[in-house]
Amino acid sequence: MYSKRIESIAEVVSPCDTLADIGCDHGFIGFCALEKNKTKKVLFSDISAPSLEKAKAYCLKNGCSEKCEFFVGNGTEKIAYADCVVIAGMGGKEIIEILENMSFKPSQIVLQPMKNLPDVRKYVEQRYFVSFDKIVFDKKFYNIISLTQGSDNLSDEEILFGKNNLKEKHADFKLFVEKEISKTKKILSGKTDNKDKKLYLMQLQKIAEVLNYDGTNAQISGD
Ligand SMILES: C[S@@+](CC[C@H](N)C(=O)[O-])C[C@H]1O[C@@H](n2cnc3c(N)ncnc32)[C@H](O)[C@@H]1O
Repeated sequence: MYSKRIESIAEVVSPCDTLADIGCDHGFIGFCALEKNKTKKVLFSDISAPSLEKAKAYCLKNGCSEKCEFFVGNGTEKIAYADCVVIAGMGGKEIIEILENMSFKPSQIVLQPMKNLPDVRKYVEQRYFVSFDKIVFDKKFYNIISLTQGSDNLSDEEILFGKNNLKEKHADFKLFVEKEISKTKKILSGKTDNKDKKLYLMQLQKIAEVLNYDGTNAQISGD
């Protein structure tokens, strides 16, 4: 009943006592983690009171009030501690701001930024170990990043494309590279002096070669 995106995020959570679902909105990630027995308790938090009401209503309907607490707040400001913090469906800059203001160190952090992925990776590599970073296709592409305590030293390619994608060379990543090549070629066909896009296309084509996919033959699609 949950989307592939929600299921994939909840699946990455390591079993814990308390999970904080930050920017929870309907709360589906927290509820899905509860149903998968990934956590004993969920702290739902959102900056918007009306958004949090959706999670409260879902909780009442499903009779799990004793396992849930609800907070209106910016980022983790109302949360004293959680073993795992999930921040999903927000822009990279908002996520970095929330991490920067977090007053405790959870054992695990799971992120699903909607944009500015390289900025997020550059920020987290100095502060956490990137234990998982994989793209999932669920009508759109979503990147799921899991962090544990420690630090990391990501390569330029890992910053751009994510650790697990490069290692696992899986189908959703191949599809992503294919689509990105088509999209970037289309942009360049209209504006040839875009140096950043030219560089990005070269990086994509290098990855495509590694993936045993002939990116040079990618068609310029309409999407
Ligand atoms: C697109 S929804 C994502 C909902 C859910 N996390 C998911 O991935 O399905 C973004 C939610 O983040 C909340 N939000 C945005 N900025 C926030 C912040 N600084 N602190 C807490 N919540 C925030 C919004 O109110 C909204 O409910």
